[in-house]
Amino acid sequence: MTQQQWTEVDAYLEQALIGEDPALAAALATSAKAGLPEIAVSPTQGKLLHLLSLTAGARRILEIGSLGGYSAIWMARALPAGGRLISLELSPANAAVARANLHEAGLEKVAEVRTGRAADSLAELVDEGAEPFDLVFIDADKPSIPDYVEWSLKLTKPGSLIIVDNVVRNGKVADAESTDASVLGIRRMHEMVAADPRMTGTAVQTVGTKGYDGFTLIRVN
Ligand code: DHB
Ligand code: MG
Repeated sequence: MTQQQWTEVDAYLEQALIGEDPALAAALATSAKAGLPEIAVSPTQGKLLHLLSLTAGARRILEIGSLGGYSAIWMARALPAGGRLISLELSPANAAVARANLHEAGLEKVAEVRTGRAADSLAELVDEGAEPFDLVFIDADKPSIPDYVEWSLKLTKPGSLIIVDNVVRNGKVADAESTDASVLGIRRMHEMVAADPRMTGTAVQTVGTKGYDGFTLIRVN
């Protein structure tokens, strides 16, 4: 199988199952124009996040790593009336694009982007006594993934779902000798998940427009 096939199939699936979506297309165009890297989740992956949010009956969603707000739009659209999404973003420039895109999508009242180091924003949420989140999507700097999972455990409740993006990295995750800080972060996160009775987790490998990667899914017990 080649990247070209994966891309063609993703294009087919997007056309068959998603179709035209002006708000999402505008969010991608605005992000590209602002010079953001084109590494948002793909449309089919975004819809997976939407569907998981719906299935979880999520009323409160936390995202770590907003980029341009593309995945936030998909997830925020799954919220019921009165629901809330909080997305954390290090880069003020990215955060400004994410806020503009969420506003364009009509989601400015349900979705909030907080700028700063995620570790600081997460500590603030704990200090605020934030109501538990039903779903957490971790899509920020990969070396910090174990820390983000630890924070997520403090900010969720039994039954919550934690989703981690980019856990396969073109297969690099299987290299036990790797010195790549991202791979080390992902591998340590998996060790934590396997050893900790507070979590039940598995991972799925994915191919598509974003190449060969994967998601880890964790249920908080
Ligand atoms: C990168 C980061 C991501 O979150 C992603 O989905 C793909 C690539 C990166 O930093 O290269
Ligand atoms: Mg990602």
